[in-house]
Amino acid sequence: MELKELKERFESLYGAGEVRFFSAAGRVNLIGEHVDYCGGKVLPAALNLRCVVAARKRKDNIVRMAATTIDLTAELDINKLDSYRNLRWGSYQAGVAFVMKEAGFDIVGCDMLVDCTVPFGSGLSSSAAIEVATALCFATFSAENGGKSAGREELAVLSQMAENSYCGVNCGIMDQFASACGKKGNAILLDCSTLQYEYAPMDFGDYELVIINSNKPHSLVDSKYNERRDECEIALELLKKELPHITCLADVTKAEFDEKSGVLSGKIYDRALHVITECERVNAAVKAMKSGDVKLFGKLLNESHYSLRDKYEVTGRELDALTQAARSFDGCIGSRMTGGGFGGCTVSLVKREKVKDFVKQVCAEYKKATGYDAICYETVISDGAFEII
Ligand code: GLA
Repeated sequence: MELKELKERFESLYGAGEVRFFSAAGRVNLIGEHVDYCGGKVLPAALNLRCVVAARKRKDNIVRMAATTIDLTAELDINKLDSYRNLRWGSYQAGVAFVMKEAGFDIVGCDMLVDCTVPFGSGLSSSAAIEVATALCFATFSAENGGKSAGREELAVLSQMAENSYCGVNCGIMDQFASACGKKGNAILLDCSTLQYEYAPMDFGDYELVIINSNKPHSLVDSKYNERRDECEIALELLKKELPHITCLADVTKAEFDEKSGVLSGKIYDRALHVITECERVNAAVKAMKSGDVKLFGKLLNESHYSLRDKYEVTGRELDALTQAARSFDGCIGSRMTGGGFGGCTVSLVKREKVKDFVKQVCAEYKKATGYDAICYETVISDGAFEII
């Protein structure tokens, strides 16, 4: 929504006066899937699909919240922040306020109107965008009140803590980090075990990154996600007996894995194999991007998808059909699911002049195969979190 309209909506809800705008990004992950919680490296980028929180301070201890896209509101008392874990809407924001208050921020009462253009359930991290935009708002108001302030990396960590400990979703750090720290035109190569990161200019020459939503609602996500995390923990504990120096699965080299993986069997072996090979693919993909080897980058996207499909088992019929349709298009050099999986979006690398035909053909084939209507988003790689001034 245009800021002018958002301001008008805000004022019609909460009265006329000054309105501030805090913006955080949805994200796409290029490669490095299901490795952030194993200490691996990931390569996400922030999008121009965003969450903007319009806000104004109040003089009491109340936070009032509403949204432009759904007809739900919530009201929080800053002194009772522990008690909003099961709201129909607003738990992410309550979690952020709770975690930040515990961390010593001066949480100020305020009115908020949330405008989120990251499609829900798309795998493009609408929840991270909401958390980070909210965290930026609270941190800014806290600092203006003489309290603690936070840099963007810290906003990401606080937002992840809120999602883990308050909302019960055991996610890694990738989404919140990309949402907070993204940079226009760049992907972020983030080492999830140290939080060291560097920007990598996203230049695919004659090829363009195309994001398509399978529109398959991904309802299994939370339960299966936590199950995969547990399986990785089991693999880590077993491998530690053989490789005492490792602290996370990403520490294990492929050579070490090949030598010691006899301690793993069945699904546990498959899950670990995915993580270890995906970590290798991230390194190869970064090298390919830096040296302009777009074809190799595309090949790595395909391999990542196959591993997520066969070894990690988080793709499903729809994402497999959508990426298969993409690969069969002459001009597409690679396609994979992005995000948690079981639905949501795919990313594909496609010859620039053929993108329109690609979208048309792939969506038609996908519809024939699954019955779902896919949607293509025209996105721009953008900055992470900032106040719009
Ligand atoms: C979700 C989680 C992330 C990450 C991805 C899979 O988006 O929120 O932390 O684990 O899945 O790569």
